[in-house]
Amino acid sequence: MNRCFTLLIEDGKGDGRDGFFLFCLLYISVTLLYSWLETKSGGNMFDGKNIVITGGSSGLGKALAERLAAKGARLTLIARDPKKLASVRQELLGGGASDAAVDVFPCDVSDSRAVEKAFKALADKTGAPDILINSAGILREGYFEYQPIDTFRETMDINFFGTLHCIQSVLPYFKEKGDGRIVNICSVAGLIGVFGYSAYCASKHALRGLTGALRAELKHQNIAFHIVYPAEFESPMVEALNVSRTKENKTVTGTIPILSAEAVADEIIKGIMKNRYEITPGIATRILTGLERVFPSAGRIVSDLQVRRVYKGPEKGKRP
Ligand SMILES: NC(=O)c1ccc[n+]([C@@H]2O[C@H](COP(=O)([O-])OP(=O)(O)OC[C@H]3O[C@@H](n4cnc5c(N)ncnc54)[C@H](OP(=O)(O)O)[C@@H]3O)[C@@H](O)[C@H]2O)c1
Repeated sequence: MNRCFTLLIEDGKGDGRDGFFLFCLLYISVTLLYSWLETKSGGNMFDGKNIVITGGSSGLGKALAERLAAKGARLTLIARDPKKLASVRQELLGGGASDAAVDVFPCDVSDSRAVEKAFKALADKTGAPDILINSAGILREGYFEYQPIDTFRETMDINFFGTLHCIQSVLPYFKEKGDGRIVNICSVAGLIGVFGYSAYCASKHALRGLTGALRAELKHQNIAFHIVYPAEFESPMVEALNVSRTKENKTVTGTIPILSAEAVADEIIKGIMKNRYEITPGIATRILTGLERVFPSAGRIVSDLQVRRVYKGPEKGKRP
């Protein structure tokens, strides 16, 4: 370090490598400072905001609700099971949220009319939403040959059309207000093809395409988008999956260390505050998805080799 500063003073005496080193140091310092300033400036952006979270009764949606309630947001949670919603509401109130700060609306996001009605009811009650977080989703894993067509339809209906319905229903309120923010929880399975996830990957790839197109269109109406690519994290969804998943899928998805839903929620909140379009929680996931984008064939080769070691296939593998 001392040598760097000496070189700065003794202008022109350093060699090319010293100059490069200094440039890197400066670049890293400016980037860290900028990132810190960005986080500071967005620090209070959730206070008093109306935030709708689909899938808010469990896993990631619930973890986001807990964190956003602590930041002073007014929450509306949507999911199908009214009992789970009521119990999460009680937990949030127990955690210090005020009675008026948490509403719940039982609603199936795959039903476009029900979604439209829910958004009208919640806007009538608490005013237009400021942020919509689409976390509702399902995951069915298994050999393609054992996946009935209904599994594909149900997965698309919830993960893709469910999100689309919520965006369509919130849009008129955002347009009237002149701004809005939408966070779509996608998955690493929306970036790559994963053994056993034929229906899930299809739905999350479709969601990624939709989000990209809407970002490009609606940016000009002051509506911002974020898309989140988590790898596997701890949640009731994964607990259920672990009961019956194929060995091949377990091997491939086990490459990235599992985060908690809370850690994923923290990174999402940071990403929103920094106004990042793409949010990839977890350093290991960022490295692997970054490598995948530069060398897509390397990812396929590694996953093929992993699967080959344990392959049973639909004939010998576990039936659902
Ligand atoms: N867990 C992971 O490893 C992982 C990894 C990457 C991405 N993701 C994505 O992260 C999101 C959250 O996953 P999670 O692990 O937190 O799952 P989770 O614990 O199973 O929670 C899913 C939530 O979605 C709700 N939901 C499901 N179907 C719905 C429907 N038709 N209408 C309304 N709400 C519905 C559920 O409540 P009800 O059942 O009561 O409706 C629940 O609140 C999902 O989009 C998932 O694809 C998860």
